[in-house]
Amino acid sequence: MEFRAFVAERADDRVERGVRMFAAVDLPPGEVTVRVGWSSVNYKDGLATIPNGKVARINPLIPGIDLAGEVIASDDPEIEIGSQVLAHGYELGVARHGGYAEFNRLPAGWVVPLPGGLTSREAMTIGTAGFTAGLSIARLEARGLSPAEGPVLVTGASGGVGRTAIAILLERGYETWASTGKAAAHEDLVALGVAGILSREEVTAESPRPLEAERWAAAVDCVGGATLPYLLRALRYGGAVAASGNTGGAAFATTVFPFILRGATLIGIDSAALPIAERRSLWERLATDLRPRNLGDRVTEVTLEGLPEALDGILAGRAHGRWLVRVAG
Ligand SMILES: NC(=O)c1ccc[n+]([C@@H]2O[C@H](COP(=O)([O-])OP(=O)(O)OC[C@H]3O[C@@H](n4cnc5c(N)ncnc54)[C@H](OP(=O)(O)O)[C@@H]3O)[C@@H](O)[C@H]2O)c1
Repeated sequence: MEFRAFVAERADDRVERGVRMFAAVDLPPGEVTVRVGWSSVNYKDGLATIPNGKVARINPLIPGIDLAGEVIASDDPEIEIGSQVLAHGYELGVARHGGYAEFNRLPAGWVVPLPGGLTSREAMTIGTAGFTAGLSIARLEARGLSPAEGPVLVTGASGGVGRTAIAILLERGYETWASTGKAAAHEDLVALGVAGILSREEVTAESPRPLEAERWAAAVDCVGGATLPYLLRALRYGGAVAASGNTGGAAFATTVFPFILRGATLIGIDSAALPIAERRSLWERLATDLRPRNLGDRVTEVTLEGLPEALDGILAGRAHGRWLVRVAG
């Protein structure tokens, strides 16, 4: 059996990218073989296809940190041939071949049954970015956040994690604010339902003060850099930030005052290594009570051939919503 895959291959200080033919023997070991229908483009996929991205751990690599499709062979009695499944994280698209291929083979312990109420296309519209948004909100609510606590700020609001977090929070009744560096995204965010928008400058400005006026009950942050210290300074008493990303930089410099004077909490969010039981149950919630508002809005569909433009776009900060990858021909 031969199939098409988008491959990134490092040679010296360059990465060659393109669609190639692969054979079933090239697939990694695993109990479950999947005909991939859909994948998506996440920031980490961009990093997996550039020379110093520090994400790719095999060479060549079929990137794609998430996938959804149909089981065509299974050695696991719990996972039936013909069933619809999805997978993301662990080593997928990083240390073993990922979702940008017509077929993949997975360990059974990585497989998530497609929840009722979501198509596989919708599942990848949510994808790793949306799962991370849902996990951020679930973790904030597990420590007491509710709409009655006050407004919630979402940073990187036009991107995959940010826009999906907004769409989930709005559906759950939160007064949801956005911060974005894109003036062109304002109209869409207002139409989605945000209560207000802050510029990127407002959330990255240097401040001589260790604390700002108490404003946010919580924040969902995928930007890091100078934004995370702002969020901590501006939390209300007892508030929390769920931090998942670093598009604004990885360095983190702040003071202890938000923690010792306002009881602030910083919650680290990792979706990649999250144990499978919690992963499967969070997907059930993404199909029901954490389902994002207007799922399917702001989706740009690309084929394997269209991936270079999307991968370059996400690294250049041009994301607006989600890039969905139609893998099946
Ligand atoms: N921890 C986890 O498990 C996990 C899972 C998924 C993603 N992530 C991380 O979360 C982040 C977002 O991922 P994504 O897939 O949502 O990417 P994305 O679609 O590109 O969204 C990121 C957003 O960050 C903002 N941004 C971009 N460059 C920036 C800069 N220089 N300074 C400040 N803001 C900037 C942009 O939003 P605006 O233009 O609207 O400001 C952009 O749309 C990445 O760092 C990714 O690695 C982590």
